[in-house]
Amino acid sequence: MFSRSIIATRQAYAKLHRPLSAVASAAKTLFTPEVKKSAYGASAKHNKNIIWSEELFTPAQRRELVGAGHGGCTVWITGLSGSGKSTIAAKVEKELLEMGLNAYRLDGDNVRFGLCKDLGFSPAAREENIRRVSETAALFADAGMVTITAFISPYKESRALARKIHEDARLTFLEVHAHVDLATAESRDPKGLYKKARAGELSNFTGIDDRFDEPKEPDLKLHTADMSVPACSGAVISEIKARGIISGKFRLNA
Ligand SMILES: Nc1ncnc2c1ncn2[C@@H]1O[C@H](COP(=O)(O)OP(=O)(O)OP(=O)(O)O)[C@@H](O)[C@H]1O
Ligand SMILES: [Mg+2]
Repeated sequence: MFSRSIIATRQAYAKLHRPLSAVASAAKTLFTPEVKKSAYGASAKHNKNIIWSEELFTPAQRRELVGAGHGGCTVWITGLSGSGKSTIAAKVEKELLEMGLNAYRLDGDNVRFGLCKDLGFSPAAREENIRRVSETAALFADAGMVTITAFISPYKESRALARKIHEDARLTFLEVHAHVDLATAESRDPKGLYKKARAGELSNFTGIDDRFDEPKEPDLKLHTADMSVPACSGAVISEIKARGIISGKFRLNA
């Protein structure tokens, strides 16, 4: 009686766990041989006592395991204050989420509430701001998120670093230039910052007393004075699709 109930319990347990163990063994067969090797080597260049803990799966394997149907990438929107970065980033994020994709937006002002709250706007602080955001975006992209960033990112060196961080980790990086001339950006002045900069209440303001390096070869250039917001977000989503990040399972409006 006792042993029969143990057998029954074991059978019930086996039945319950069969699907999970089948998935586990299929995953093992599929994925064990090709565990991704770290791009950085075993120890950090700046400190040999910092050792990289190797990833379990490549981004493609991760995508397959969770059935995401899309990969991760970073859409890096650069441009003058008032060029439309935040507006476009929000629209892209909304559209992708409504289609069922994992998407997340990192906004210039928002990160300065937390991650970068200790940084100001001197050239060195701006560079450190962009370096931190680049690393964060790369982690998000590696986790399978379509990450959209909205930062003025005025210096070409910082944008090049953002691209390098992604490319070293074999992650797709799209530089999108929200382009508008200074006069139009200033006439929009959504936060009243140009007015303050002109009045001398703000220093190091991009376009006024700090430089903006025009991207030479962006992956996408959006002329936001001539295009509607949906047209801009549609162009971004089409570009993401063209890079093979999104599979056919998603119905795109773009
Ligand atoms: N095609 C367009 N794309 C984006 N914004 C547009 C477009 N056309 C008009 N706008 C308007 O331009 C303004 C852009 O403001 P937004 O806050 O998005 O700029 P930003 O680039 O994020 O500036 P900041 O660097 O100061 O955060 C908004 O008022 C938006 O409605
Ligand atoms: Mg903004």
